Amino acid sequence: MTTLPPLYLIGAGAQGRVAADAARLCWPGRQLGFVDDNPGRQGEVTDGILIYAADKLPAPGQCRVHVCIGDNATRLHKARALVTAGYTLETIIHPTAAVAGTAQPGAGCCILAQAVVQAGALLGIACIVNSAAVVEHDAHLQAGSHIAGRAYVGPGCLLQEGACIGAGAVVLENLTVGEYARLGAAALLTHDQPAHSLWYGIPARNQS
Ligand SMILES: CC(C)(COP(=O)(O)OP(=O)(O)OC[C@H]1O[C@@H](n2cnc3c(N)ncnc32)[C@H](O)[C@@H]1OP(=O)(O)O)[C@@H](O)C(=O)NCCC(=O)NCCS
Repeated sequence: MTTLPPLYLIGAGAQGRVAADAARLCWPGRQLGFVDDNPGRQGEVTDGILIYAADKLPAPGQCRVHVCIGDNATRLHKARALVTAGYTLETIIHPTAAVAGTAQPGAGCCILAQAVVQAGALLGIACIVNSAAVVEHDAHLQAGSHIAGRAYVGPGCLLQEGACIGAGAVVLENLTVGEYARLGAAALLTHDQPAHSLWYGIPARNQS
């Protein structure tokens, strides 16, 4: 059993269910709840966890929160709003993930099964490192970034706020991916990618 405060997962969709599973493994017995603003889902039980309306979220001192919204901008906006309201963002690291002692995952990050985050990597708030993804040493993921399953972010890369790297994509070392840029699944990024652009292919090219 744990004496940690209850954890409320904001968003009861796919990312929420995955995060809830990891949270259960991290903290057996911890009280979990979902919060979802879809009125049709309130009162529903998903994976054994009750879904509450947003106005039922306990006060900041009585719980911690983790935002599980897939869209990077929406997740980051919500996480920042909760911090401003006084809430503490919980970071969830699946027990099978390997996070170096010198890596620094930010508040509210979600690092999933078999992901690897290497020495000196720096993650801003509310980042997602999905299953079996690799963040190499000294890479920097700014707030709200998302690395999908089996993607690889090379040493010294900079992913600016809200960047989204598709499943299985490879970002070669020391590259910059701009704010809210999207790199498609299985892409090979060999050059810096501008903000808000969509690139994919091998080598990846601008498809915006
Ligand atoms: C790149 C991506 C965003 C493009 O989505 P889209 O704009 O809706 O593109 P479409 O599906 O309409 O495809 C447009 C064309 O690009 C091709 N294409 C799409 N994604 C591609 C990719 N990743 N690599 C190579 N070609 C791709 C399609 O085959 C299609 O080609 P066609 O016109 O010759 O048939 C999307 O395909 C993708 O890769 N998303 C990432 C998915 C992912 O990793 N999810 C993780 C879940 S956590």
